[in-house]
Amino acid sequence: MFPLGRPARLAVFASGRGTNLQALLDAFPRGHPLGEVALVVSDRQGALALERARSKGVEALHIPWQKGRFAEEVQRLLKDRGIDAVLLAGFMRILPPSFVEAWYGRLLNIHPSLLPDYPGLHVHERVLAAQEAFSGTTVHFVDQGVDTGPILLQVRVPVLPTDTPQSLEARILEVEHRAYPLAVHLLLLGLVGPEPLSQALRRIWPEIPCRSRPYYLRAERALRAWGRPVEEVAWATDWARAAFLFAYRVEEGLDGVAWVAREEKGLPPPLKEGVEDLLRRVKL
Ligand code: GRF
Repeated sequence: MFPLGRPARLAVFASGRGTNLQALLDAFPRGHPLGEVALVVSDRQGALALERARSKGVEALHIPWQKGRFAEEVQRLLKDRGIDAVLLAGFMRILPPSFVEAWYGRLLNIHPSLLPDYPGLHVHERVLAAQEAFSGTTVHFVDQGVDTGPILLQVRVPVLPTDTPQSLEARILEVEHRAYPLAVHLLLLGLVGPEPLSQALRRIWPEIPCRSRPYYLRAERALRAWGRPVEEVAWATDWARAAFLFAYRVEEGLDGVAWVAREEKGLPPPLKEGVEDLLRRVKL
C-alpha cells in the first residue's frame, strides 16, 4: 500500500479545537513530496478545526453526524477527492465497522494514553486517580474496537505529583504534536504497517507484547526498504540489528521525559538557579 511513489492525499477528521490537525497541516502542507492534507471533515459545525484548515486554504467540510449517513457521505467524498489515508485527530465519533474495514491500514487515530491502558474518555482524570507514574500518547491503526488497534508509535510522558488533568493534558498534547506527524511519515514511507509481513514474525506475534510490536513492524519494513528479505527480521544478521536500531532510533528526541525539562521555562529565576546549582554540583 505505502509508499505510493507519489505524494499522498490525506484527510483529517476532527471534532474540536484541532491542535493535532494544526500540527498535521504544518507538517504536510500543499506541495510536500510525501503527502499533503487535502481535506478536513468535522461532525461539528463550529469546530475550530474547520477554521484552521480554511486559513491554510485546505478544503474543510462540516458533515453532520447521522448514524449510517455520515460514513456513506464521507466515503463518497474521500473517493471523489482521491484520499489515500484518513487521520482521526480528536474525532469524537465511533466510525461504523464497514468504514473501518474499508480503510484498515490507512486509518489512524491518536489517543492521549499509553494504550492498551486507559482507552475511551476522561483519560487524564483516571490516570491521576490511579497514581500512575507515566502516561503518554499512542498513534494507532483503527480497528473494530475503541482505541484497540495495532500501535504505530507510543511516547511516554511522566506524571508529576503536582499534575492536574489540565496540566497533564497540556504536556501530553505538546508531545502529540510531534508524534502524530512522525507516525504519518513512517506510514507514508512504508516503514510501518498494521500487521507483520513475514511468516517468522507472524508465528511469534501473539507472544510479543503489544507495546513492543511497533519496533518489529518497523524493523521488517526497514529491511524491505533496504531490499532485504523480510524474514531476516528473525535472523541474527547485521541487517536485522540495523533494522531494529532504526526502529528504536526513529523515536529519538520524542520522549516526553525530555519535555519536562521545558517546564523550567516557567520557573522563577532563583529556582532556576537552584536547579543549575545542583546540576553543577552533580557534574563535578
Ligand atoms: C488529543 O488529546 C487526542 O489525543 C485525542 O483528542 C485530543 C484532541 O485534541 N484523541 P485537539 O483537538 O487535537 O487539540
